[in-house]
Amino acid sequence: MSIEDLESVALAMVAPGKGIIAIDESTNTIKKRFEAVGIENTEENRRAYRELLLTTPGLNEHISGAILYDETIRQKTRDGVPFTEVMKKAGIIPGIKVDKGPVPLAGFPGDVVTEGLDGLRQRLEEYVKLGAQFAKWRAVINISEDNPSSTAIEANCHALARYAALCQEAGLVPMVEPEVIMDGDHSIEVSYEVHEAVLRSLFNALYEQNVMLEGTILKVSMVIPGKDSSEQADVEEVAEATVRVLKTCVPASLPGIVFLSGGQTDEQSTAHLNAMNRIGPHPWPLSFSYGRAMQQAALKLWAKDMKGNYAEAQKTVHARAKDNGLAALGRWNG
Ligand code: 13P
Repeated sequence: MSIEDLESVALAMVAPGKGIIAIDESTNTIKKRFEAVGIENTEENRRAYRELLLTTPGLNEHISGAILYDETIRQKTRDGVPFTEVMKKAGIIPGIKVDKGPVPLAGFPGDVVTEGLDGLRQRLEEYVKLGAQFAKWRAVINISEDNPSSTAIEANCHALARYAALCQEAGLVPMVEPEVIMDGDHSIEVSYEVHEAVLRSLFNALYEQNVMLEGTILKVSMVIPGKDSSEQADVEEVAEATVRVLKTCVPASLPGIVFLSGGQTDEQSTAHLNAMNRIGPHPWPLSFSYGRAMQQAALKLWAKDMKGNYAEAQKTVHARAKDNGLAALGRWNG
C-alpha cells in the first residue's frame, strides 16, 4: 500500500465531525466491565454486545471507525454476517488492537512496558486479510513519586515505533497510543511534564524507525490532574494545557489526533474535546477514540434488560457519538 493510501485512510478516520469507537477491550477487561453491571462474561454475551454497538442505527453519521479485539474481528452478527462486512457496508473503518498488554518493567518498580512485537508481522498480515485498515498499540505510563522513569518512557516509545513501522509495511495505519494514566494525586503541571516527555520521546522514536507521519494517527490522553489530586482543573485549563503540549511536540504533518477517555465521565470527555476545538484552529483535527465514554451508559441499560432495552441502549450509543462528533467540531452546547 502506498503512503497516499495510508494517508487517505488516516484522513477518513478523522473526517470532520467524526471519531472512533473503541470496542477493543481484551477478554479480561470486558470481564471487569461486564461484572460491574452483572453480565456473565461468555463468548456469546461478548458477541451480542459488540453486535449491539456495531449495528447501532445511524452510527456512521458520527463514527468513522471502530477498534476491534482479536476475538471480535472474527465474529459475526446473529444472522451470520461478519462484523467487518457490516462495518464496511456502513462506511465504518475496521481497526484492530494488536498489542498484548502491559507487563512490569524489570528493574523499574511501578513502570510497565507493553509487549506484543514477537510474531507481529505475521499477525498483521492475517488482520489485513480479515479486513482491518488500521491497528492500535497502547503504551501505559504510570505517574507516582518515582514514575515514570526515562527508561520506561523510552522502552514504550521504542516499541510503539517498531509496531508502527510494521503496520505501515503491512498496509495498516498505525494508531500510536501513549496513555498517561489518571490514577494518583499529581497536579496538572506534572501531567503536562510527563505528556511532554512522552510525546518528545515518541516522535523521536517514530523518526528513528522511518515511520511516515502522514500515515499515522496519534491517540493520546488529556493533560489532566490525577484523580486524587486536591486541585482539580476546570474544562478550559485542561483544554488549554492539552493543546499546548500537543503544539509543542506533535508535527503538523500528522493527519489527526484522537483522545482516549481514560476514566473521565461522559460529560467531561465531551466537554474537554469541545473546549479544545473551540480554541482552534489547530494544525490537525482533534477528535475522539473513546471506549468507556462511548459505551458505559449503553452497557448499563443493556445489562438491566438485554431484550427490552436493546433499542434504547443503541439510542444511547448514537447520542454519545452525536455529542462527541459535535465536540470534534467545537459545536457541542452541553
Ligand atoms: P477509554 O476511552 O475507556 O480510555 O478506552 C480507550 C482505549 O482504547 C484505551 O486503550
